[in-house]
Amino acid sequence: MTDQALAAESDSRDTPDTPDIPGKPTSASRTTLSHIMTNSDTNLLGTVHGGVIMKLVDDAAGAVAGRHSGGPAVTASMDEMAFLEPVRVGDLVHVKAQVNWTGRTSMEVGVRVLAERWNESTPATQVGSAYLVFAAVDADGKPRPVPQVIPETERDERRNQEAQIRRTHRLARRRAIMELREKRAAEGLAD
Ligand SMILES: CC(C)(COP(=O)(O)OP(=O)(O)OC[C@H]1O[C@@H](n2cnc3c(N)ncnc32)[C@H](O)[C@@H]1OP(=O)(O)O)[C@@H](O)C(=O)NCCC(=O)NCCS
Repeated sequence: MTDQALAAESDSRDTPDTPDIPGKPTSASRTTLSHIMTNSDTNLLGTVHGGVIMKLVDDAAGAVAGRHSGGPAVTASMDEMAFLEPVRVGDLVHVKAQVNWTGRTSMEVGVRVLAERWNESTPATQVGSAYLVFAAVDADGKPRPVPQVIPETERDERRNQEAQIRRTHRLARRRAIMELREKRAAEGLAD
């Protein structure tokens, strides 16, 4: 989707029209991906490279989006990736992902990243979090409708409501940027 198209989207699309597809509960697609960090995962400082964590996040979220939508899904955007603590070689990293919100053809997947020493029984601590939007696609790569997610717990419900706020802000931010660009272009200012 172009920035213009996304910006032009009406917030009314947040009430999706997918009546023929039965909804799916959050737990049906919730997934955890675990991986032990090794020397090949490090950056120049000797801790784990952020990109390694981001790939795991994208992998886990993609599995969730595929399971929820019942077919292929592609990453449309990744935002609010937060790195809270460094991850070290020898950490067992758990990437926990679930569908927070569904639109007509897109899904927001929320991800929490936890780490614990691979050979110790100390509790895992949260080291990161992220929110990704996936679009379900058909064989031609075109968006296809998704089942609506059915929050099952109070926490699921809170995450669903927060995801709707992020969706509104994504659209509003793009709209504001497009308006600024159009204004600058009308004034003959450079890109
Ligand atoms: C994502 C993609 C399928 C969207 O296709 P499109 O023709 O623009 O389709 P639409 O405009 O109908 O958008 C489809 C849905 O995705 C959402 N979407 C599209 N771009 C988005 C973005 N940048 N951020 C958030 N949501 C986005 C739309 O809001 C829409 O959701 P809705 O149906 O629930 O309202 C297309 O841009 C694409 O294939 N991108 C490449 C994906 C990819 O290769 N990912 C891996 C990167 S390495």
